Amino acid sequence: MALGVMSLLCSFLAVLSIAMTASAGDEAALLAFKAHLSNGGLLASWNSSAGFCSWKGVTCSHRRPARVVALRLNATGLAGPLSPAIGNLTFLRTLDLGTNSLHGGIPASLGCLRRLQELYLGENSFSGTLPVNLSSCTSMTNMGLYNTKLSGRIPAELSEKLTSLVAISLRNNSFTGPIPASLANLSRLQVLDLSNNQLVGSIPPGLGSIQSMRFFNLFGNNLSGVLPPSLYNWSLMGAFEVGYNKLHGNIPDDIGSKFPKLYYLGLGHNQFTGTIPSSVSNISSLKTIGLNHNGFSGYVPPTLGKLGALQTLYFADNKLEADDNDGWEFITSLANCGKLKTLELSINSFGGQLPGPIVNLSTTLRFLQVMNNRIFGSIPADIGNLVGLEVLGIANTLITGVIPETIGKLKNLVDLGLYNNSLSGLIPSSLGNLSQLNRLYAYYGNLEGPIPASLGKLKNLFVLDLSKNYHLNGSIPTEIFKLPGLAWYLDLSHNSLSGPLPNEVGRLTDLNRLTLSGNRLFGKIPDSIQNCLVLEWLSLDNNLFEGSIPRSLRNIKGLRVLNLTMNKLSGNTVIFLMLLAILEAWKNYT
Ligand SMILES: *[C@@H]1O[C@H](CO)[C@@H](O)[C@H](O)[C@H]1NC(C)=O
Ligand SMILES: *[C@@H]1O[C@H](CO)[C@@H](O)[C@H](O)[C@H]1NC(C)=O
Ligand SMILES: *[C@@H]1O[C@H](CO)[C@@H](O)[C@H](O)[C@H]1NC(C)=O
Ligand SMILES: *[C@@H]1O[C@H](CO)[C@@H](O)[C@H](O)[C@H]1NC(C)=O
Ligand SMILES: *[C@@H]1O[C@H](CO)[C@@H](O)[C@H](O)[C@H]1NC(C)=O
Ligand SMILES: *[C@@H]1O[C@H](CO)[C@@H](O)[C@H](O)[C@H]1NC(C)=O
Ligand SMILES: *[C@@H]1O[C@H](CO)[C@@H](O)[C@H](O)[C@H]1NC(C)=O
Ligand SMILES: *[C@@H]1O[C@H](CO)[C@@H](O)[C@H](O)[C@H]1NC(C)=O
Ligand SMILES: *[C@@H]1O[C@H](CO)[C@@H](O)[C@H](O)[C@H]1NC(C)=O
Ligand SMILES: *[C@@H]1O[C@H](CO)[C@@H](O)[C@H](O)[C@H]1NC(C)=O
Ligand SMILES: *[C@@H]1O[C@H](CO)[C@@H](O)[C@H](O)[C@H]1NC(C)=O
Ligand SMILES: *[C@@H]1O[C@H](CO)[C@@H](O)[C@H](O)[C@H]1NC(C)=O
Repeated sequence: MALGVMSLLCSFLAVLSIAMTASAGDEAALLAFKAHLSNGGLLASWNSSAGFCSWKGVTCSHRRPARVVALRLNATGLAGPLSPAIGNLTFLRTLDLGTNSLHGGIPASLGCLRRLQELYLGENSFSGTLPVNLSSCTSMTNMGLYNTKLSGRIPAELSEKLTSLVAISLRNNSFTGPIPASLANLSRLQVLDLSNNQLVGSIPPGLGSIQSMRFFNLFGNNLSGVLPPSLYNWSLMGAFEVGYNKLHGNIPDDIGSKFPKLYYLGLGHNQFTGTIPSSVSNISSLKTIGLNHNGFSGYVPPTLGKLGALQTLYFADNKLEADDNDGWEFITSLANCGKLKTLELSINSFGGQLPGPIVNLSTTLRFLQVMNNRIFGSIPADIGNLVGLEVLGIANTLITGVIPETIGKLKNLVDLGLYNNSLSGLIPSSLGNLSQLNRLYAYYGNLEGPIPASLGKLKNLFVLDLSKNYHLNGSIPTEIFKLPGLAWYLDLSHNSLSGPLPNEVGRLTDLNRLTLSGNRLFGKIPDSIQNCLVLEWLSLDNNLFEGSIPRSLRNIKGLRVLNLTMNKLSGNTVIFLMLLAILEAWKNYT
């Protein structure tokens, strides 16, 4: 037999599979696979002291001679190229080499694996194109090639031949070109994940004929056009995600009867318009509705609260409306959703009073934002009912009134944004109970009175911004300077704070930015400030500081911005000016 000729053909070993040589061929192929790896040593058990069927990751058939039917080496740390010899394991049904550091091309010889059902090569660094030869793997049901670096077009041949495919994921690669219309041939397909590629063109309408489809993800491509109406034939559809594309059009009014099993709807970051059809309230399985960053308008369906499984609503950045008469009913209705976790309503045309029933939302709610809306009224006194909240953002609105004392009951809060409203009155000392808080933004309002010393209990705080309230007065509580986590910035500028800057300022050893401009702070700038070793920005301008500028400031090596102007400082202004000049020069230079 002329081996030289036969070696080019896939069928060689298959033909000889009844002979003992086939078994030896499998061993040789496995050893070649190991030899190609840069760290084949990880496969120490792959040695001649035991038959290859007992090697790690290898499963053989029970027939004689034994043949390799599965190779499972997922997440075993393998590195290097994938040997084309893999294509000699012609009885292989499962090849799982996912989550390793394999690189180079995917060998075309994989096309020799006619019995292959499952191919998992995801989470590797494979590059190059998807070999057309894979279309010869006609038994393939599952193909996982996500998180690699494949590029080029998705070969149309695949879908014309791999008609047994049930699931295919090419997620997070660099595939270009259109989605092949021939994918419509995959009549058993349940899962199609082409997200995070660079696909263009429109979604082929033919896909709608795949009755079995239940998971469809095209997130993060450059697809355009409308969603073909045929897609709504997918009566088993569970997760539908087409976010971050350039799609437009409406959601059909009857979506509620078309997708009865839908649990995830992701349309975010496109150019969709029209209203949210009230029939969505009939899809009782719905958990997530993501419509953010589109042109949706009109009222949110008041019946949304019928969706008992609902967890996440992303409605931000649309043109959704409400006023004092209409549009806010959905909030009252959402009180029935006992699993609600996220409600994001920012950047819309919501107006009127912030609805009182918002305090009756589920205590499972973790995230609530209503920023950049023309909402007025006050923050309901019982906001403290929402004890599950981790993020609360009421900012860039026309809200007035005080910060309710009950806010101190939100013990899980990590982020609190109450900036650029018209909030007035005192800062409640109960804020000091929010022991998990990382960031507190309450700038640009009308808050007045002293800064409560209780804020010194916020051991996890790394940003505190109370600037531009103009009326916060009294001295800065020394407790603020002892906050152990304060690392990012402390901004109390443009208020009416008085008193000296305490020595304790030197305890802010991790702080990057300190801004106390525009107050009535007086006395000497304490030398201890030199202990603020990582300070990059120090603005003490427009106060009543006197005495000399501490020479120790020179010890703060990373200082980029230093503003001490408009004070009553004297002494060695020459050094100061030199310092400033050097800083300026450095700033201009970089
Ligand atoms: C793979 O099979 C071909 C014959 O089809 C043979 O020439 C080649 O040596 C085999 N490679 C290995 C590593 O076994
Ligand atoms: C060869 O593999 C066996 C297990 O199959 C293992 O116990 C032995 O340590 C291996 N030998 C070497 C030299 O790695
Ligand atoms: C592979 O391993 C990773 C990490 O252990 C796991 O998340 C993944 O589900 C595994 N994949 C398969 C196909 O077994
Ligand atoms: C790829 O497929 C073509 C056409 O079927 C075939 O001629 C070629 O030998 C295959 N390549 C490999 C490496 O198997
Ligand atoms: C995409 O894949 C790369 C590896 O190619 C990985 O580093 C990255 O984390 C993945 N991104 C996502 C969103 O999964
Ligand atoms: C596969 O899809 C192509 C393009 O849509 C079509 O021309 C062809 O007839 C289909 N083949 C089968 C077997 O359905
Ligand atoms: C989409 O196309 C634009 C320009 O046409 C390009 O800048 C962008 O990177 C593309 N996005 C993706 C995800 O390919
Ligand atoms: C979708 O269903 C409609 C009837 O609801 C039917 O007329 C149409 O042919 C179907 N489309 C596809 C692509 O199956
Ligand atoms: C919701 O379903 C009910 C019962 O099937 C139906 O009567 C009603 O019209 C549907 N509502 C919407 C808005 O489609
Ligand atoms: C919240 O719910 C309680 C109990 O159902 C009710 O008495 C109260 O009026 C509701 N509060 C608001 C502001 O709607
Ligand atoms: C404050 O919020 C209003 C909307 O209420 C917005 O127009 C304005 O730009 C915001 N100001 C700042 C400084 O962000
Ligand atoms: C320094 O402070 C003065 C007075 O407040 C202000 O006018 C000026 O813009 C500030 N300079 C810099 C560079 O921040």
